[in-house]
Amino acid sequence: MSSYVYMKVLESTPQRYDRGIRILSGGTIDALWREVASRVARPGVRVLDLGCGTGGLSLACARLGAEVTGLDKDAGMLAVARQKAAAEGLKVAPQWLELGVMEMEDVIEPASFDAVVSSLMMSELLPEERAYALRQTLRALVKGGSIVLADEVAPEEGASKFLWRLKRAPRAALTWLLTQQTTHPMEGLADDVRAAGFAEVRQQRVAEGDFVIVSAKREAE
Ligand SMILES: C[S@@+](CC[C@H](N)C(=O)[O-])C[C@H]1O[C@@H](n2cnc3c(N)ncnc32)[C@H](O)[C@@H]1O
Repeated sequence: MSSYVYMKVLESTPQRYDRGIRILSGGTIDALWREVASRVARPGVRVLDLGCGTGGLSLACARLGAEVTGLDKDAGMLAVARQKAAAEGLKVAPQWLELGVMEMEDVIEPASFDAVVSSLMMSELLPEERAYALRQTLRALVKGGSIVLADEVAPEEGASKFLWRLKRAPRAALTWLLTQQTTHPMEGLADDVRAAGFAEVRQQRVAEGDFVIVSAKREAE
């Protein structure tokens, strides 16, 4: 079974998603969400989280005081996000929007967010969908606004790739057994962001190289 199908099944069991993603990420996912949030979230900053799932990244941003909108096409994932947010009693509770990224143009006003974040979602889109979503993200941002994306990647070199597979296989198997979920490593995210028209594109591998964080800006003028 491909890891993509594995991920799809993971998302079909939203109540178990958080447990699955923690196992699959080797316990690093919460730190990844905090790192992404720390780059943009502050009181008064309007943040859009694309493919927010059960709200891990949205809540990390909201805890820093940002005004968060979590967007996802999956009602079950959003229901879990809502429950988690309600349990926290945040000062500014996130808004949840059931929407596919391919519908963004119809619903999201131009220049209505200061920052757009996303984790483990861009890898789920087809290349042409990703290109569209990134162009819509540029449109949704104010001039000078930021995008910060995190996703799973595989190492580039042969030997590291072999070791990565050895490390990942048992985690993926355990995650699958417990939750029927997985993720889908991707390539070329920074290039896609650049191609969509963003400026100041930077990428950093984190969590022993298992994840990449890509950040960029909508040009100020
Ligand atoms: C792997 S989960 C990641 C969830 C969350 N961002 C996280 O870091 O745990 C991918 C999420 O993207 C959502 N998603 C996938 N394709 C989407 C699309 N075209 N539009 C909106 N959401 C989408 C799925 O429903 C799922 O909740």
